[in-house]
Amino acid sequence: MLEVLLAQAFWLVGSAYAANAFPPLIAGHRPLDKGKMFHNRRLLGDGKTIEGTVAGILFGLFYGAVQILVQPYIPLSVGGKDLGLLTITPAIVILLVAGTMIGDIAGSFIKRRVRLERGASAPIMDQLGFVIVALLLVSLVAPISIEIWIILVVLTPVIHWLANLIGYYAMHVKKTPW
Ligand code: CTP
Ligand code: MG
Repeated sequence: MLEVLLAQAFWLVGSAYAANAFPPLIAGHRPLDKGKMFHNRRLLGDGKTIEGTVAGILFGLFYGAVQILVQPYIPLSVGGKDLGLLTITPAIVILLVAGTMIGDIAGSFIKRRVRLERGASAPIMDQLGFVIVALLLVSLVAPISIEIWIILVVLTPVIHWLANLIGYYAMHVKKTPW
């Protein structure tokens, strides 16, 4: 049963993860907030760039488009167990990608308001903010079971942390290991 839920959860969340993972790979230089200040602090900071945001959106949409194209051909059951994967639609992909970007950008906005510098760690919000907003938005058009919520809320921080360790120590694309 758990493996079926894991398959459902990661099948659903793929385009959100794709949209979140891609921006750090792009060395963006044009800050999304154009350097604007808000109450004496940067509105978002240099960690949110136009290039990174566009690349994240495009990669998330690309991932979702591939899912939509391949889903007629993937097995519906494994070992006799019905996988019950959600049929991915363009609306689902768009909401996941939009939610990911909104969650990530809102996280930076909040961090600047509480005087955390760009790149400073904000545990929970850094790792979970994007996926929570993405799932909330997608809930508008598709049912997300409580089991899927729990799996993604528990495992996303672990995966995020592992991916950032790899990005920092092995690929040198992250400025900090978080
Ligand atoms: N990035 C980007 N555009 C985005 C999101 C991320 O260019 N919309 C790039 C930036 O180079 C950023 C890196 O990915 O530094 C890591 O992303 P993240 O950890 O979200 O940003 P931080 O630098 O930690 O900034 P903040 O404190 O605002 O979260
Ligand atoms: Mg960060």
